[in-house]
Amino acid sequence: MNKIVPLLFLAMLGTLNSNAQVNFSEHIAPIIYNNCTSCHRSGEIGPMPFTNYQEVANWAGMIQYVTEIRYMPPWKPDKNYSNFVGERGLTDDEIQLIADWVAAGAPQGNPDLEPPLPNFPTGSQLGTPDLVLEMAEEYFIEGNNQDDYRVFVLPTGLTEDKEIAAVEFRTGNSRAVHHALMGFETNGAAAALDAQTPEYGYVSFGSFGMPDDGTFVSYTPGLESIRYPKGMGKVLSAGSDFLIQLHYAPLPTDEIDRSSVNIFFKEANDPITRPVQKTRIWPFDLDGGWLSFVIPPDEVTAFHGTKTFTEDISLVSIYPHCHYLGKDWEVFAVTPSNDTINIIKIDEWDFNWQGAYVFDRMKKIPANSTIHFNATYDNTLNNPYNPSNPPQEVSWGETTTDEMFIVGLNWVPYQAGDEDIIIGEDTTTGIEEVISNAGMYLYSPYPNPSNGAVTLNYYLDKRQNISIELFDIKGTLVHTVVSRAVHQPGNHKVEFNVGHLPDGAYTIRLSGEEGILTKPLIVSE
Ligand code: HEC
Repeated sequence: MNKIVPLLFLAMLGTLNSNAQVNFSEHIAPIIYNNCTSCHRSGEIGPMPFTNYQEVANWAGMIQYVTEIRYMPPWKPDKNYSNFVGERGLTDDEIQLIADWVAAGAPQGNPDLEPPLPNFPTGSQLGTPDLVLEMAEEYFIEGNNQDDYRVFVLPTGLTEDKEIAAVEFRTGNSRAVHHALMGFETNGAAAALDAQTPEYGYVSFGSFGMPDDGTFVSYTPGLESIRYPKGMGKVLSAGSDFLIQLHYAPLPTDEIDRSSVNIFFKEANDPITRPVQKTRIWPFDLDGGWLSFVIPPDEVTAFHGTKTFTEDISLVSIYPHCHYLGKDWEVFAVTPSNDTINIIKIDEWDFNWQGAYVFDRMKKIPANSTIHFNATYDNTLNNPYNPSNPPQEVSWGETTTDEMFIVGLNWVPYQAGDEDIIIGEDTTTGIEEVISNAGMYLYSPYPNPSNGAVTLNYYLDKRQNISIELFDIKGTLVHTVVSRAVHQPGNHKVEFNVGHLPDGAYTIRLSGEEGILTKPLIVSE
């Protein structure tokens, strides 16, 4: 008996090996279709579709890279620290399987064994909205490679206060809309600001440019909307104007946007008995007070602030916010009995993937706990997103060259049993958006950092003359990858070597007839 078992085992291993050569149909399609295709398909925010073997195989090397560095699927908070609704991520085994598949030459396997694409919901993810507010007109976004931050005022026309179960932002143009803050106000101040200029909407960078009467969970690409749990919600006032502050990302081509908001009222049998409250942590809460929020040039600076609630509370969601110098965040509570409660940890802050995070379960923070807020800012040239070169002293402000230190907390007074409430239980992932494949697109170089070969992909919508150049941090041209060559429309790939360049941060610049696109590249051993 003892001898038979190992023999049998070996025999089984043998069959496993020969049948189970890693292939797309059996092994890779389930990973990609379940973790990537929700965003990577036509009409969604991912820049290329992954809906069949060929589309995935074309990008095999890059898929291996972005999954190994855990850049995709995008999920910023540390999942071993705390958990939120709609978490994304691959297991180590799945990442290894992708690497094995690429090493084996990305074989297709037997197409009959490929699973069908998941059934992606279209339209609203939360059901039929009770009220839809749409931008009154199309907004024209000039293709000038500049950020555009703008508030649009959407009159609600409500004749009575309404209890809100959920709001769902629906972008009209997912190539352009990078994030949306949502709130409301009741005294007509926003409408007055809008009326000052003939253009639709008004300019405002970090917020609504005036005090609001309430806010709702913000939108970023791929983040799902949730309904508040039973008895909880916010009230939208009669006669209020709904405000959306949109960040349109820099684009080389003109775009138009007409976004809308779906509003869901509380059901008659589920009135709000526990209104959701908002507390904002900002530099007033820092150890050194407001004036200590100064980030010197050429340094990495850490800030620490605290907040204490004198009653037991249950956290619903959290929104950490800073700009391009932000490096990491950690928020935790220490209870009066010296227990530590993890709240959120983001090791690599990424402005482009900022967002509000909704806890998977209500998170109880006992009365008189000290909540610690730690954030670090990298104001050196090692930070490829540093908007200033040379680095400048930076303090509070609303533009992208200023910084912020904000954490928004949504909470309710604690009630027994809150720990068992699973938030957003009935939501499904995925969002419906519109993507047009117009213009040019420069993908991130990989690997990045690199000390040798670099692969760069880009997309052109029409035949044109392009150049690709590499600049160092001082803006000096150090390498020409493509020198004014005519390219056909479609996807292109170029490989080049940076082994000869000194360590440091570089910028790759693609110049075409429709504009200029850039991506950072780090050269390092
Ligand atoms: C929540 C939406 C979302 C999901 C899920 C997602 N992606 Fe992406 N992906 C994006 C967006 C948006 C971009 C454009 C770059 C950016 O904004 O970071 C992108 C870019 C990419 C790129 C190009 C990288 C670049 O910088 O040019 C690759 C490759 C990629 N994704 C692969 C994947 C793979 C593989 C998965 C699944 C394991 C995945 N993505 C899941 C939204 C998503």
